[in-house]
Amino acid sequence: MEITVLKNYSELSSTIADIVEKTIQDDLYDLEKRELTKFILPTGSTPLGLYEELVKRKLDWGMVTTFNLDEYIINPNHEQSYHTFMRKNLFDRIDIYPGMCNFPDRNTQAYEDKINEIDLCILGIGTNGHIAFNEPGSSFDSETRVVDLDEQTIEDNSRFFDSVDDVPKQAITMGLKTIMKSKKIVLMANGVHKYKILNVAMNGGITEKVPASILQKHKNVEVYYCD
Ligand code: F6R
Repeated sequence: MEITVLKNYSELSSTIADIVEKTIQDDLYDLEKRELTKFILPTGSTPLGLYEELVKRKLDWGMVTTFNLDEYIINPNHEQSYHTFMRKNLFDRIDIYPGMCNFPDRNTQAYEDKINEIDLCILGIGTNGHIAFNEPGSSFDSETRVVDLDEQTIEDNSRFFDSVDDVPKQAITMGLKTIMKSKKIVLMANGVHKYKILNVAMNGGITEKVPASILQKHKNVEVYYCD
């Protein structure tokens, strides 16, 4: 699969922001489409620049609904919850209706049932090849569910907590099958530490050991990387 290599983080962020903006605009001017524009969104370090760029662009979010990929098993008001992350970095800074911003919770089936006709899914990738919190070994048939986090993920995410012991050990994540139902998927990766796994996932064998490799089976995926 083609990996588009961009000059720097700023170009990575603005390229994905262009895709988001175009998706919103195309839907606003598509008189046939009566549905909301539906996005799946990630958290983590990688999309921070994208969210900053989207805030600056002052887009019309009135007809948009979002679904976050995952959330720790944690109090949603915790400063490191993904609810808090999204409010702080995006939702409280744009004119989206708070009721349109969806997060997975323990009622996993209800969340799964809501995720249909997604126009654009934006993904990051973990250093172990995970997408959302689908850790190595996750079934390609998986749906929204509670999962145990991989040792590598706990270690990687400990940078956001006081210590590695404070990182939640479980999360709720969309499944790989859920993600694959999206009409279009954009994967963004930033940093040399991501390049090897990105290349293995996009150009190696398609295997549940590398969850992101499932994307090779999707007809409309774009992959963007910068050092
Ligand atoms: C988070 C998510 C994860 C991250 C991945 C990379 O919502 O879906 O799969 O995208 O762990 O995280 P960063 O961007 O922090 O390197």
